[in-house]
Amino acid sequence: MRKDIKVFAPASVSNIACGFDIMGFAIDEPGDEIILRQKETSGVTITKITGDNGKLPLEACKNTAGAPVIALLKHLGINPGIEIEIHKKMPLGSGLGSSAASAVAAAFALNELLDAKLTKEELLPFAIEGEKIASGAVHADNVAPCLWGGFILIRGYEPIDIVEIPVPDNLYCTIIHPEIEIQTKEARKILPKEVPLKDAITQWGNTAGLVAGLMKSDFNLISRSLKDVIVEPVRSALIPSYYKMKDAALSSGALGCNISGSGPSLFALSTSYEISERIGRAMQGVLEQTGLPSQVYISKINKQGPRII
Ligand code: HSE
Repeated sequence: MRKDIKVFAPASVSNIACGFDIMGFAIDEPGDEIILRQKETSGVTITKITGDNGKLPLEACKNTAGAPVIALLKHLGINPGIEIEIHKKMPLGSGLGSSAASAVAAAFALNELLDAKLTKEELLPFAIEGEKIASGAVHADNVAPCLWGGFILIRGYEPIDIVEIPVPDNLYCTIIHPEIEIQTKEARKILPKEVPLKDAITQWGNTAGLVAGLMKSDFNLISRSLKDVIVEPVRSALIPSYYKMKDAALSSGALGCNISGSGPSLFALSTSYEISERIGRAMQGVLEQTGLPSQVYISKINKQGPRII
C-alpha cells in the first residue's frame, strides 16, 4: 500500500446562469492540490496550508479538506494516522468552487491512498461534508462537477441524483476573477425566498434549453438559454461593473456570460480559444477602468475530475 499521495482537483463553475444549485461544470485550471501521508500515530492532522493567506483553519474537523477525511475514515471503520497538506492554487471566496476542490481532492486522495475502492457516487457525500463547512448549506453543484468532470446536472437532492451531460468538443470557458471576496453564506442570504411563477417558467425553460443545447451541440440554443432571471438580478449588485463586463464579453463573441457560483468571478462560454482570449481581454479592460485588479483564466471544460499527480 502507498504511504503518500498527491492529488489535483479542478475549479468549477456552478449555477451556469439558469441552474442555481443544480448545475455546474469543471474547468482545467485553476485547481487545488492536496497531499495525504500515512503516519505512525492515529488521528487526522493538517500539517501545512499554502496559498490561503492564513485564512483556513488548521483544525481538521473545521477544514473543508479535513472534514471529508474524518468522515470517510469513520465510514470505513478504521483509524489510521493521516497527515494532510493543502496547497490552494486558486483564490478563496472567488466563486470558483475553491472549497469544493479541496474537499473533493481530499476524499478522492484518501480513497486512493487506502485503496478503499469507493465509487464517485459513494465518495460524493463525504466531499459534500467539506463543502457544507464553507457555505453552510448542502449544495453539490461545485462538488459533483469537480468529482466527475464535465457538465453535471443534479436532478434532485433527496436522494441525490447526478446526471452527466455530454460536452461539445469546442467549448471554451473564460473566467475573470475580480480581486474581491464574496462569502457564499452571505451571497445566499440576499436571495429571494419565493419566485414568481412567471420567472420560474422562464428559468426552467432556459435550464431545459441549456441541457438540450449541450446534448445537441447546438451553440445557438446554448446561447439563448444562458440566462438567469432569479439570482443574477440580486447578486450582480455585489460585483463592481458586472453588467459592463458582461456586455464586453457578449460583444466579444461569448455565447453567454454570467456569475460563476456566488461570485465575484464571471464565466463566459465560447467556441474557440481565440474568442475566449478576446473575451478575457475585453472584460479585464472594463475592470481596469475601476482600478480593481483581476485574474483571467482560459480553459477547456475539464472532463476528468481529480487526478493523481
Ligand atoms: N449554488 C451555490 C450558490 C454555489 O450559488 O450559492 C456556491 O458556490
